[in-house]
Amino acid sequence: MRVFRCRRSVSRKLVVSLVILAVVTLAVVKIRSILKKMLCSEEESRLMIKELCKLYKTQNAAGNICPDLCETYTLKYVSCTNYREGKKILIMDWKGKKAVLKSKYAFKHDYDGLLFGEDVNKDLDLPVSKFLKMAQESIVYNIGHKMERNLQMLTDVWSLDFKDFINMPKSSHRHPKKTAMEDLWALIQQQEYLFMKIFQDKSKHIPRIYGTCGHAYLMEHTPPGEFLDNDVPRVPMAKKETWKKRAKIALGLLDLLQSFQNDLPEEFNMCDIKGENFGLAEDETVKAIDVDMAFLDSKLGMELLSVGNCTAHKDCDFFDCKGWCDLSEGQCTRNRINNNLQAVCKDIFLSGLDNIWHGLLSSPPLSIEQALLEEIEECANPGNIQHPDIRYKASAQSLQKIRTLIMKTLG
Ligand SMILES: Nc1ncnc2c1ncn2[C@@H]1O[C@H](COP(=O)(O)OP(=O)(O)O)[C@@H](O)[C@H]1O
Ligand SMILES: [Mg+2]
Repeated sequence: MRVFRCRRSVSRKLVVSLVILAVVTLAVVKIRSILKKMLCSEEESRLMIKELCKLYKTQNAAGNICPDLCETYTLKYVSCTNYREGKKILIMDWKGKKAVLKSKYAFKHDYDGLLFGEDVNKDLDLPVSKFLKMAQESIVYNIGHKMERNLQMLTDVWSLDFKDFINMPKSSHRHPKKTAMEDLWALIQQQEYLFMKIFQDKSKHIPRIYGTCGHAYLMEHTPPGEFLDNDVPRVPMAKKETWKKRAKIALGLLDLLQSFQNDLPEEFNMCDIKGENFGLAEDETVKAIDVDMAFLDSKLGMELLSVGNCTAHKDCDFFDCKGWCDLSEGQCTRNRINNNLQAVCKDIFLSGLDNIWHGLLSSPPLSIEQALLEEIEECANPGNIQHPDIRYKASAQSLQKIRTLIMKTLG
């Protein structure tokens, strides 16, 4: 009798275990298939390069990196990194060095064209002076920066000399003006490209832009790495052993914030602050790798915060850029009430919703633990405001205090 009961309970346990195993396996298969649909694929990435090179070979795309990508194959696809709905991001091998080929959309036809119904073999009838005006206005519209309206401007935002290219003899190119203008037009639609290309030499925290081919641009490989990428599943970084590495990245981020405040023509507002939008160069300089939701002051004021009616301050927020509602008028004002430093302290230095357990400055050495936590908390919520929608600008002193505390631990 006893033996029988024992056997029955063993077989019940076995059944339960098998059922659990089957459910887990099904869930894993399902999650993998969902992820597969969401993630970029090698097939799609190679198709993007193939189509781009087809355009280049038919003289419908140009750029300084096209020969390496399409003729000598010294710029080779390695892998892709992004979600499908995001930008196209291909990790490449460029003569033994890693680089990143980026484009907002995969194909040229995904971008707004200049004119429709054109004969592809005919040069575009658009006069250069008219294109120049369109390009200048579009750059102002996209990043809020006014460039001088001359041919040099077009060379500055491209990877080839615009004037030389369009004056190429007909024997070497059938429609150079059309190709040049169309490529530039697609590149101008990409805020990130414009910002990085135009301000390349203003700050060491902007990744190098090595060049372009058609609508795609090749950029320095600066991956977020294990401490900034919140998507990397890992043991909580609340570990003292990694402190020095994390502390150095935090100091790099503070340098970046100062540089973006002082070295650009206007303050640069980053409205999508999270670890994975920053990366590390080979020499460990921290760089901003995703600046699609970042705006010079006048652009942010004009375009984003001043639009729309509001009944609460949060109605005027643009992601991490906190707006202000004139409650008596029911209108958003043009001001951003917080700043990049406040958002970095809140979303990167402290542990938060996006980075539970992963605050970059968690688990510091005991000697500074209490003081650092107090400073970061003050920086993440200056004045300790209780209203959940209101966060003010963190001060330069706050930045300095955090920097000094971190430096103490680095000896
Ligand atoms: N220059 C780069 N070097 C290395 N990795 C990069 C680079 N640019 C982007 N990535 C990787 O691709 C991810 C998505 O890039 P991002 O520009 O943020 O695209 P999205 O606008 O779609 O968020 C980044 O989080 C990073 O992991
Ligand atoms: Mg991003």
